[in-house]
Amino acid sequence: MKNYFLKLSAEKSGQVIHKEIYGHFSEHLGRCIYGGIYVGEDSDIPNINGYRKDIVDALKEINIPVLRWPGGCFADEYHWKNGIGPKESRVKMVNTNWGGVTEDNSFGTHEFMNLCELLGCEPYIAGNLGSGTVRELSEWIEYMTFSGISPMADLRRKNGRENPWKLKYLGIGNESWGCGGSMSPEYYSDLYKHYQTFCKNFDGNSLYKVACGPNADDFNWTRVLMSRINRYNANAISLHYYTVPTGDWNRKGSATEFDEAEYYSTIQKTMYMKELLEKHTEIMDSLDPDNNIGLIVDEWGTWYDVEPGTNPGFLYQQNTMRDAVVAAVNLNLFNNNCRRVVMANIAQTVNVLQSVLLTEGNKTVKTPTFYVFKMFKNHQEGMLLESELENTDITEENITIPQVSASASEKDGIITLTLSNASLSDGATLTVDAGRCVEAISGRILSGSMNTFNSFDEPDNIFDTEFNDFKKMSNVINLTLPALSIVSLEIKVK
Ligand code: AHR
Repeated sequence: MKNYFLKLSAEKSGQVIHKEIYGHFSEHLGRCIYGGIYVGEDSDIPNINGYRKDIVDALKEINIPVLRWPGGCFADEYHWKNGIGPKESRVKMVNTNWGGVTEDNSFGTHEFMNLCELLGCEPYIAGNLGSGTVRELSEWIEYMTFSGISPMADLRRKNGRENPWKLKYLGIGNESWGCGGSMSPEYYSDLYKHYQTFCKNFDGNSLYKVACGPNADDFNWTRVLMSRINRYNANAISLHYYTVPTGDWNRKGSATEFDEAEYYSTIQKTMYMKELLEKHTEIMDSLDPDNNIGLIVDEWGTWYDVEPGTNPGFLYQQNTMRDAVVAAVNLNLFNNNCRRVVMANIAQTVNVLQSVLLTEGNKTVKTPTFYVFKMFKNHQEGMLLESELENTDITEENITIPQVSASASEKDGIITLTLSNASLSDGATLTVDAGRCVEAISGRILSGSMNTFNSFDEPDNIFDTEFNDFKKMSNVINLTLPALSIVSLEIKVK
């Protein structure tokens, strides 16, 4: 077993881990919204105003800070006026991106904004730039956020909502380089500036505007966009990167049936996020040296072949201990890069891609990824502590990955330290220098074999339990991470 040394800097970094890094994304795709989050008030499934009670409770348990909606690719075909007013008269549409199913628009603006109020999270609206109009987007903002007398505010009132909602996060276009319009960065930048001009701040509501950023390693997109926008017309740009184990979109691999080589290749592919964050940050630093524009990873996670027998357009996949490691590695990366990374949204909340929750009828399953979000939630709004971890590279199946990932933050005299050990065979011992006298420690652990998952018949195969394999001596903690495990520690310091 290898021993590694981890030094936590007592000097605070001055960087806050924005709670929004623990954000989620829910699209009108497969069973994410319908059946996953929303079942309607008349459903036999216990619900609050149509929202599944089990899902609301579970999302509150992980302190969901922000929810992105209505897409994804769906966003650039979404016309918000079809999703307001009496449900029986809402216009139906075809969901061309996701299975060609009929979208009845029974979940629209009111249902989404009220859900965010119920969850106590920020709404993040993805506006339609691809097939919408400037006026349509501008009117949506007016509808949601204006309190006075105006056509849109009056319409909102007519539809039963007197007071405006608060809306901070507004994306303008989704994947405009692809499903959002196949645009060049030059063309998109101009269009973005045009659209955003008409997205107004009403009644003290202050929009935080997000421009569509690059697809994975399209560094040219970042360079062009960043050279054409500025702090007065954009608050952040987005980045999308999915972890595909094989790297082949035609044969992505199974969510549950994979060998050790495919496991290590998944971790290696997910580690590419580190390089992406560093390189996009470098470009952003050169064009925005004062760090005014944030980076939002508003789609990330694993993408496998769909579960056998399910609709290929619904992107339904199971979630194993491998996904838990992916989640831990990425969240540690986002924490450590929080100077630029101001938000991240895992794709997608329920029943789609790397979900934290799965549903079937009235049953719900919390995935291993859910437990990672639960174990990491104390990082939200903590002060990042620089955590210097020496090189932990290991080579398995001819693939080299870092064995251990870590991040640390401090809030109210408590250090939260989160760790993952990606090795399938070897434990790791860690000597942690906390930089201050350690008074007390408590810990949680998530572990299991690489393809362990929770199913509807066996929902408790894997969940977090107490971790106490540590010893403290003054400033130093010695601990052992078992092979394939994720650990979170709460360290009381003085
Ligand atoms: O999350 C699924 C899809 O992935 C989204 O709709 C799109 O933005 C991305 O390509």
